[in-house]
Amino acid sequence: MTLPVRQPSPYGHFLWGTAISGHQSEGNNLNSDIWLAEHVQPTVFSQPSRDACDSYHRYAEDISIVADLGLNCYRFGIEWSRIEPEPGQFSAAELDRYARMIDLCVERGIAPMLTYSHFTVPRWFAARGGFEVPDSADLFARYAEVVTRRLGEHVVAATPFNEANIQRLMRTLLPNPAARPVIDAMLAACAKQCGSARFSSLLFAEVEKTEAHLVDAHRKATQAIKAGPGNFPVGVSLTMQDIQGIGENNLAGAVIDSLYGPWLDEAANADFIGVQTYTRVRVDAQGHVSPPADAEMTEAGYEYYPQALGSTIRFAAKRTGKPVYVTESGIATSHDTRRVAFIDAALNELQNCIADGIDVKSYIHWSLLDNFEWSSGYSQHFGLVEVDPTTFRRTPKPSAHHLGAHARRSLEAAR
Ligand code: BGC
Repeated sequence: MTLPVRQPSPYGHFLWGTAISGHQSEGNNLNSDIWLAEHVQPTVFSQPSRDACDSYHRYAEDISIVADLGLNCYRFGIEWSRIEPEPGQFSAAELDRYARMIDLCVERGIAPMLTYSHFTVPRWFAARGGFEVPDSADLFARYAEVVTRRLGEHVVAATPFNEANIQRLMRTLLPNPAARPVIDAMLAACAKQCGSARFSSLLFAEVEKTEAHLVDAHRKATQAIKAGPGNFPVGVSLTMQDIQGIGENNLAGAVIDSLYGPWLDEAANADFIGVQTYTRVRVDAQGHVSPPADAEMTEAGYEYYPQALGSTIRFAAKRTGKPVYVTESGIATSHDTRRVAFIDAALNELQNCIADGIDVKSYIHWSLLDNFEWSSGYSQHFGLVEVDPTTFRRTPKPSAHHLGAHARRSLEAAR
């Protein structure tokens, strides 16, 4: 596919990338809230993350794979709990490791895109109340400031949070009242282990208790990042599924309001909106409608529906008036031919959006590696690259080369 030339950049006209998060790939993220939650009883995690993909040690190999595929962007998360393992105590060595990742990206012609917090927070932060306490925003902004001072120079784009509306997604699209008592008991067990009265995880907290502070944290962190060094766009990343209303008096509008809350307005005041889309959700006047009986389902339990990307890009651009970075698009499947088909269909949607004049700046596929899929453990395969769980040997799948070929063609055509 050929995309129009937009702006001079050492990385070309369009960012073709793949993404990963720290906790899901690095392994042994011992100081994070999620590591603790994986190990208490009861827990909602089907298995612990353990070594994950050992990207903590094998990041150079990962970056080489991205470069060899022909992609020009790598979106990765940095782990707050490694960088600030105790309040106010910042690790120069851990920051150096992320700096080496960025240097390697630059050497290989890959644009580094940073996520400051991909769902995880330090254990100490959760134990003092997480984002339920007002000064949490200042602590997050302080971390963002320290990180940017060390890493900002070569960063190409960033989002403070991955999917700032994640708590809303859980409540709106994945309501599971039976899970709440288990989550509460898990968090109580975490608090006990920490010897604290509470334990609040970003991933499991309730919207009403955290959202005002999350918005404040997002704004303050954006300001801290903008102070530099580096001069790159900072956006709002959102989980955005294609909400389709069916029939009269359908509840699509209410579901959309409930999924996004204040975050579309926040994105309208940011440099860009980061669109992260996986499927569609159909809603009638009663509520959610199951996928059609003959629908193909992915390993993640939802409908295979790559067309969702086009609608969410259009919705995001219209509602915010901002450039769109597709920061995640992907499919969980063990049948790689379905991933190839998914990529083609999603890119077709993206190309139509660009042809209609929408300013889309990236396509970043989730994920580089088969990795730790949160409470589902290692049972879902989102990766372009297979990872052997004991040797950590990486084997790119045909879909990885397929995406790389799209990128090469597009980047060469724009030269
Ligand atoms: C998250 C990833 C997750 C992926 C697939 C995204 O919403 O950012 O951490 O692995 O979805 O479920």
